[in-house]
Amino acid sequence: MEFRNTLEFSLEMDKNDALAKYREEFVYPKVNGKEVIYFTGNSLGLQPKRAKTFVDDIMTDWANLGVEGHFYADKPWWDYHERLIPPLAKVVGAKPKEVTVMNTLSVNLHFLMVSFYTPNSKRYKILCEEKAFPSDQYMLHSQVRYHGFDPGDAIVEVKKRAGEHYWRTEDILAKIDEVGDELALVLIGGVNYYNGQVMDMELITKAGKKVGAKVGWDLAHAVGNVALKLHDWNADFAAWCSYKYMNSGPGNASGVFIHERYLDKKDIPRFEGWWGTKKSERFLMKPHFEPMPNADAWQVSNPAVLSMAPYLASLELFEEVGMEALIEKQKALTGYLEFILKEIDTEVDSSFEIITPQERGCQLSVFLHGQGRALFNFLMENGVIVDWREPNVIRLAPAPFYCSFEDMYRFGQLLKEGIQGKK
Ligand SMILES: Cc1ncc(COP(=O)(O)O)c(C=O)c1O
Repeated sequence: MEFRNTLEFSLEMDKNDALAKYREEFVYPKVNGKEVIYFTGNSLGLQPKRAKTFVDDIMTDWANLGVEGHFYADKPWWDYHERLIPPLAKVVGAKPKEVTVMNTLSVNLHFLMVSFYTPNSKRYKILCEEKAFPSDQYMLHSQVRYHGFDPGDAIVEVKKRAGEHYWRTEDILAKIDEVGDELALVLIGGVNYYNGQVMDMELITKAGKKVGAKVGWDLAHAVGNVALKLHDWNADFAAWCSYKYMNSGPGNASGVFIHERYLDKKDIPRFEGWWGTKKSERFLMKPHFEPMPNADAWQVSNPAVLSMAPYLASLELFEEVGMEALIEKQKALTGYLEFILKEIDTEVDSSFEIITPQERGCQLSVFLHGQGRALFNFLMENGVIVDWREPNVIRLAPAPFYCSFEDMYRFGQLLKEGIQGKK
């Protein structure tokens, strides 16, 4: 499609956008009385309007029913999380039995490593991307130390090539081969938080499994953003948070995928709790753990329904729209943003550089040459919510649910003004 950097063109794009009406489903923060242009759906998605009703319903049931709400609320609390599973399984390309919702992301990755990082003296190494999200680095280091290994030896980081901003798939595959039968686990971010790169999850999973390692994915920046086929790709496990592209609310519950080959088993290493035990026996208070036949076996505590309520509200929207339509709009929207950035870059004489490769979802990360926080501050003061990553990167993630083509145009105009003003 041929883009144009004009207001008329952006309005025409919005007019022809079948998802444009979903803007009405979200609440926009305001700056100077005007709704913002929101680019930080990769950090915290906007609030779906219907989320409040879902939370209010639980508050009302709690007020009216007290403990009885567990079984007699309109949506009973004791199996509330089960409502999230079917729509979520579609988002991540899994069978419903392979998915559950519990805890938070870092906690879940630790729990999953209890099951899937079981090193021995020969096979103990973990492969990840260099400069993985800090929580992942801390997780991996502490897991390795917990098992008595030295992170300096046991953690293998795949580096970017000198002068490049992204990882080459061939380098990741070569490293997997090189570590070979010492490799216990591959655990990588499916979409990198810093440069927005989408990893080739299918190929990497295949390569990891070929050398006998377990392969898991941190999908914080991937879920609700890019196409996922966790079951078909044959990943062992994955986990994600829901507060980014899934619009579930700050710090909210994490989702988990565990491939069906590990389900309905008693002899798998796992930290267990009463919510993982068979539903029919959960209140019999028996001394022995009988696992649920699905991913719920990894549940430990009873569900935090107040936080699952906005997640369920948001999943209704995902169910209604479907990932295919979202991804189609995302490609056009991010493509348009890239076009505008490139146009402006020529107009203001090479002031910045997009460091996100073409393998991407929503996010474009932009390295600001010679500009800095002053430009970031200018954007924020003028109602563009972006985020800043050291040393000089702003991340722009136009989420297709609530960002418009007009937003991209208006952002471009402000960016130009900001750069020109700061020169
Ligand atoms: C890639 C990645 N991994 C892990 C986390 C940690 O998430 P949580 O604080 O929910 O454990 C984040 C949070 O933003 C993230 O972006």
